[in-house]
Amino acid sequence: MSSNQLDKKSQAWSALFSEPMSELVQRYTASVGFDQRLWKADIAGSLAHAEMLAAQGIIGADDRAAIERGMAQITQEIEAGRFEWKLELEDVHLNLEARLTALVGDAGKRLHTGRSRNDQIATDVRLWLRDEIHAIDALLTELQRALVEVADRNAEVILPGFTHLQVAQPVSFGHHLLAYVEMFARDAERMNDVYRRTNRLPLGAAALAGTSYPLDRERVARTLGMVDGEGKACVCQNSLDAVSDRDFAIEFTAAAALCMVHFSRLSEELVLWMSQNFGFIDLADRFCTGSSIMPQKKNPDVPELARGKTGRVVGHLMGLITLMKGQPLAYNKDNQEDKEPLFDSVDTVKDTLRIFIELVAGISVKPEAMERAARLGYATATDLADYLVKKGLPFRDAHEVVAHAVRFAIQRGLDLSGLPLDTLQSFNPDIADDVYEVLSLRGSLNARSVLGGTAPAQVRAQVARHRARLA
Ligand code: ARG
Repeated sequence: MSSNQLDKKSQAWSALFSEPMSELVQRYTASVGFDQRLWKADIAGSLAHAEMLAAQGIIGADDRAAIERGMAQITQEIEAGRFEWKLELEDVHLNLEARLTALVGDAGKRLHTGRSRNDQIATDVRLWLRDEIHAIDALLTELQRALVEVADRNAEVILPGFTHLQVAQPVSFGHHLLAYVEMFARDAERMNDVYRRTNRLPLGAAALAGTSYPLDRERVARTLGMVDGEGKACVCQNSLDAVSDRDFAIEFTAAAALCMVHFSRLSEELVLWMSQNFGFIDLADRFCTGSSIMPQKKNPDVPELARGKTGRVVGHLMGLITLMKGQPLAYNKDNQEDKEPLFDSVDTVKDTLRIFIELVAGISVKPEAMERAARLGYATATDLADYLVKKGLPFRDAHEVVAHAVRFAIQRGLDLSGLPLDTLQSFNPDIADDVYEVLSLRGSLNARSVLGGTAPAQVRAQVARHRARLA
């Protein structure tokens, strides 16, 4: 095979190379298997680049028209599943460019003027991720809405609140769910923050040092919607940085990992609550599976998997951040390894969000079981201490008095509210008949009406605030 034939057959980049790659090396270095997913972003970036090249007189208007025509045809081919992705063309960029050139000739070869795959890939990933962040943000809003509705219906439902997984104080189930709304609201804030730093344009950085062509980078940024709140073009301001850093992807994955951690905590609670030993809730059958050996089993597979998949996304964060750490400026091929973890993080978070939006709406609550559990474990002991404080006892002394009363009640297998008044008075003579209201679960709940507290009135106020915020 002559070297000329060899270039044509197996190498897209150059006549410099005198021997073909082995199949193994080709597979090892190619990214088209996964980066073809970026095709839409790649075409959008190319069209914006071509539009600017023509406006700047770097290519002709006829070239630009031919590029647009070719890209329209390629879009159709890909959407119809007729596009032939070739491993020997390495990545999404070279595959699209080769096809474009086959379709429109020299105009296709002019597209790469003033551009490198280094600024091209950095642009593609940002464009792609930007849209995914939007989608995730919308799903986070839906999830919060679903949680707020269940919280509203359950503002008056009492379950034991735990610390150290020991019964601590009674809380409203609505309040408990709204804690997750706060977490997912912060996840959305983080996503929006990452969006700002993702939506910036690397194109024009070329391979690493910028380019000698008179490119209008701000024009390209505006065409691609890479603008800030005031409509000002957002362009990466240092060419070396533009092609090399993937911090936006790391930040995104960190935000995604945290979001999954929130899902994981919620999942852990759902699993516990569904266990017979709690029996607080039931999940709709469509989110559970049975056992092949134990006919009575209904397993909460979806929350278990969400908990498990959290490990993947946390792992991707570790992978990406480690990928970056040893790289000298500017672009290095290491960065090709950013895609699979990033893609999988996006897919995992989106799927988990979609499933939980439905799952949350379908939770059936068992208020009697929750209340029964709240009555175990002396959940209103703090209320008795607070009651004594109101009678003038210093809090530490009140704490001590109640500890004695609880110890006494435990020995007799009774709740504090099961002790007769004269027994309670033997621990402190100021205790009067009104103590029984204080010792009731509902009394305890209603008393915690500080801002952010668990009193149903506070829960309703928070529901209203969230509804307005999420409208
Ligand atoms: N596939 C590469 C990536 O994902 C595209 C850029 C390659 N640039 C290069 N000069 N080899 O990062």
